[in-house]
Amino acid sequence: MKLLIDDAHLDEIKKLCDLYPVAGVTTNPTILSKIGGNPFDTLKAIRGFIGEEAELHVQAVSRRAEDIAAEAKHIVNILGANTYVKIPAVPEGFKAMKILVDTSEILITATAIYTPMQAYIAGLCGASYAAPYVNRIDNMGFDGIRVAQEIQKIFNANRMETEVIAASFKNSQQVLELCKCGIGAATVSPEILSALVKNSAIDDAVDKFIADFEGFAGVGKTMCDFR
Ligand code: G3P
Repeated sequence: MKLLIDDAHLDEIKKLCDLYPVAGVTTNPTILSKIGGNPFDTLKAIRGFIGEEAELHVQAVSRRAEDIAAEAKHIVNILGANTYVKIPAVPEGFKAMKILVDTSEILITATAIYTPMQAYIAGLCGASYAAPYVNRIDNMGFDGIRVAQEIQKIFNANRMETEVIAASFKNSQQVLELCKCGIGAATVSPEILSALVKNSAIDDAVDKFIADFEGFAGVGKTMCDFR
């Protein structure tokens, strides 16, 4: 399961990419609204930092299929290869996906997915990813993890190449549950990513090893000081 950062704050992205094996960055209009200004200033800075090999997911906001397709082409023209255009999995969005698959090489992430059937149809349209909103589904009284797992099963059973990119998490347990079943990718906020391995027992264990080493070797010493 690939891990992506669901955020647009460049300082956070830099910090997390430095520490974790991150495959890319996902954004949405709400995330971009937290930065404000020209969205391409934000997105170009992210692209510049993560490089052209990493995934950058950017959402189109038009409502009509033809406009979504035009917006998608505009986004990819500016942000380059490995830019996935997020398109809501609604009827006009499906039409836009078909237009793009027929007329371009643009990569599509079907988004705003609350039901397995949205994901299945997006997969038939040629989307590379389908993004179920785990926590938002939970908040509606359904089981977001289960919906994401069902979507994965549908893709497998129908031999579809579309991958799940699970989104909208409220805790690291949800991420773990999806990791266990081999979901394609999860995109998580900086807070959730940092919390994936946050545990005082881990910190205590590492502190004890360092203290024991310094106890016989000297404070600040490491294996580099010996040969
Ligand atoms: O990009 C969609 C998804 O990440 C939304 O997450 O936390 O706003 O439900 P959230």
